[in-house]
Amino acid sequence: MARMSSATRSEKSSQDPTQSAAPGRLAGKRAIVTGAASGIGRASALRFAQEGARVLIVDREESALTQVQKDIEAAGGCAVAIPGDAGSEDDVRSWVKRCKEEWGGLEIAFANAGVSGGYVPLGDQTTELWQEILRINLLGPFLLIKHAAKLIRKSGGGSIIATSSVAGLRARAGSSPYSASKAGLISLVQTAANELSGANVRVNAVCPGLIETGMTAPLFTYARSQGRDDRLGSLTPAQRAGTADDIAHVVVFLASDESGYINGQAIAVDGGLTSTHPFRPMNQYRSQSSAE
Ligand SMILES: NC(=O)c1ccc[n+]([C@@H]2O[C@H](COP(=O)([O-])OP(=O)(O)OC[C@H]3O[C@@H](n4cnc5c(N)ncnc54)[C@H](O)[C@@H]3O)[C@@H](O)[C@H]2O)c1
Repeated sequence: MARMSSATRSEKSSQDPTQSAAPGRLAGKRAIVTGAASGIGRASALRFAQEGARVLIVDREESALTQVQKDIEAAGGCAVAIPGDAGSEDDVRSWVKRCKEEWGGLEIAFANAGVSGGYVPLGDQTTELWQEILRINLLGPFLLIKHAAKLIRKSGGGSIIATSSVAGLRARAGSSPYSASKAGLISLVQTAANELSGANVRVNAVCPGLIETGMTAPLFTYARSQGRDDRLGSLTPAQRAGTADDIAHVVVFLASDESGYINGQAIAVDGGLTSTHPFRPMNQYRSQSSAE
């Protein structure tokens, strides 16, 4: 294959995560990404590999996961794909063990797998629904922090990132079990960062706003079918919904040494949604200000 010039390569790679660039901001690092078959996990795994990390990608959707592995390898990156359940301690333990056996250590763990549980009215929510959402969205990240932190510490230190949500910060961005799981996750990263004090293992969360992924696909499809694309993300100062790559860029930063003094934080990546009160400007004011 003909080699690209470095200018061409970096120009392409900043736009397209399937194009590799080396050495990158995560060169030499080893990472685990859960929920890597789709959306934010997929975009982050591609970016991790593009930035030079070796990535162990896991998801319960095996065929989509295999495709992500192929995409990473086609771009010159290194990925191992393992199907499994992010809420199972046996599975999580085996992924960390595999990193040790395959690569000798670990620096980055991204606890991203999650489910929304759909919208079920409060009075109809069952114990089983709550337990399953908490198992995947809260117990899962705990298990990854628990097992990954030990190997990260032995490997000389690193970074753990979890995907929380604006639903963990405010109401009306998900059902109550989903929101409670994401709020609990913010508390988990705060307490874990403190419990790991002195271990050189940072723990942070990203809190995405409305992002177009597999999870939100029905909402985007519906809005488009109604010709109401303009409503998607319209409550944000950014005036748009987010992309998986909007989140992946922040996750790469949190995984890298560039964020070495950020610890125990929950960082909203939401186009400004949580900076605002719910407020719709009057049409008159809107047309005046856009005419200025
Ligand atoms: N899309 C949004 O607007 C949004 C907003 C805030 C937070 N989030 C969070 O982002 C994270 C990623 O979701 P996404 O939006 O990319 O959705 P997605 O559905 O595209 O991806 C989630 C992935 O997680 C996997 N997964 C679910 N449960 C699993 C389990 N038990 N074991 C292994 N894999 C499992 C799914 O198979 C899927 O591939 C989730 O934690 C979600 O709660 C999403």
